[in-house]
Amino acid sequence: MLRNTIRNCSSKIATAIKSSPRGFAATPTETADAVVVGAAGLAVARELALRGREVLVIESAGTFGTGTSSRNSEVIHAGIYYPAKSLKARFCVRGKELLYKYCCDRGIPHKQLGKLIVATSVAEIPKLENLMRFGIANGVEDLRMMEGSDAMRMEPELQCVKALLSPSTGIVDSHSFMLSLLGEAENCKATLSYNTTVVGGHIEGDRLHLHISESKELANNIVDSPVLPQLILIPRLVINSAGLSAVPLARRFDGISRKVVPSPYYARGCYFTLSKTRTPPFNHLIYPMPEDGGIGVHVTIDLSGLVKFGPDVEWISGPDDISSFLNRFDYSVSSDRSARFYPEIRKYFRNLKDGCLEPGYSGIRAKLCGPKQPPQDFMIQGEDVHGVPGLINLFGIESPGLTSSLAIAEYIVSKL
Ligand SMILES: Cc1cc2nc3c(=O)[nH]c(=O)nc-3n(C[C@H](O)[C@H](O)[C@H](O)COP(=O)(O)OP(=O)(O)OC[C@H]3O[C@@H](n4cnc5c(N)ncnc54)[C@H](O)[C@@H]3O)c2cc1C
Ligand SMILES: *[C@@H]1O[C@H](CO)[C@@H](O)[C@H](O)[C@H]1NC(C)=O
Repeated sequence: MLRNTIRNCSSKIATAIKSSPRGFAATPTETADAVVVGAAGLAVARELALRGREVLVIESAGTFGTGTSSRNSEVIHAGIYYPAKSLKARFCVRGKELLYKYCCDRGIPHKQLGKLIVATSVAEIPKLENLMRFGIANGVEDLRMMEGSDAMRMEPELQCVKALLSPSTGIVDSHSFMLSLLGEAENCKATLSYNTTVVGGHIEGDRLHLHISESKELANNIVDSPVLPQLILIPRLVINSAGLSAVPLARRFDGISRKVVPSPYYARGCYFTLSKTRTPPFNHLIYPMPEDGGIGVHVTIDLSGLVKFGPDVEWISGPDDISSFLNRFDYSVSSDRSARFYPEIRKYFRNLKDGCLEPGYSGIRAKLCGPKQPPQDFMIQGEDVHGVPGLINLFGIESPGLTSSLAIAEYIVSKL
């Protein structure tokens, strides 16, 4: 087993780990050019590799995309909800354009279904108009306000008094997308080291030294006990794109001011699938008004035609740091939660039959704000913020992170 792991690890890490004695002072060190933490930083890894950087992706799991990137709605968002000039607005609109082009050029399964955001009571109409203004300010130029009757003609199962049509919203097969990014990164000599965890780091001589361990060495780690790294890696560039664990990881970078590392919050979103229906009731994605912490229990249709409702918002606490690196978050979907889904969904889909919602899956949002606090923007920190040359932290990459990924990569590389 160890042999397998090592064979599959990048050779540098593997050789060093193999000869690793116990104890910090004697820990072997290795240098590297660009290290991306977390395989969902694949878009960044690909962009760096295309620019000729020698990229090493370190991923704690046994393969790529087992985190949030495969636990979401797979919606290509238009860029409506976010405050003007925010990174979310900018990256979503740009990322959408890049993503459609990327998918078209490479035959990655996707579909521009369009979406309807619906007001189900007169009281919600001003909010809908507000969303339209937000969208226009963000450069989403094709939005169209519709009378309820027109929207209901388009979607006979729908109930609403007014609707905002977003033609540029769509869906994408996120697994195929990641697989393609991975392939292109590897073609440019990027290497992936799976089953390998960055457990922390320290600053030495202006550089961030990363502490690396094999994931299986951590599996039985006792909470709060010190972790001895098996390897110290000294890269010129580190992209901390560890998703839900980006904040806990940055907190373990000894020498970075605590003040610049935000507090993490986690909001789980559960999905329920629609069973006992042969054809999807809707042809568009249907969204109610946004709620605190999320954008509402909406209808998504995946590329196989499966209809899903979700995600809801449930604030949870994260596990300890090491467990979070190993993605030991609680992803359980309790069937009890469906009781709250039925009335929510029936506001816009009256014909939803009792007993037809089945527990699906869940994903966890990497939040930088708690319940009832104003939404936070993506946080991309470079040396100007934390003072460490060659470190870029990606914090709070919640929705629309998938849509934005190519734009985030473009932005990061342009800053170097
Ligand atoms: C419920 C939900 C619905 C969403 N819907 C959409 C949507 O429809 N459209 C959209 O655009 N966005 C959506 N998003 C947002 C999108 O899914 C995320 O922004 C995106 O997937 C985040 O990617 P990431 O790379 O930051 O994190 P992840 O995909 O979680 O990747 C982080 C990786 O880092 C690894 N890792 C963690 N710690 C370490 C460590 N210490 N060492 C090594 N590796 C480590 C993990 O194993 C993981 O593979 C949604 C999010 C949620 C939660
Ligand atoms: C990662 O570890 C798992 C569990 O030990 C193992 O089954 C898998 O083959 C490993 N994957 C790689 C790429 O080394």
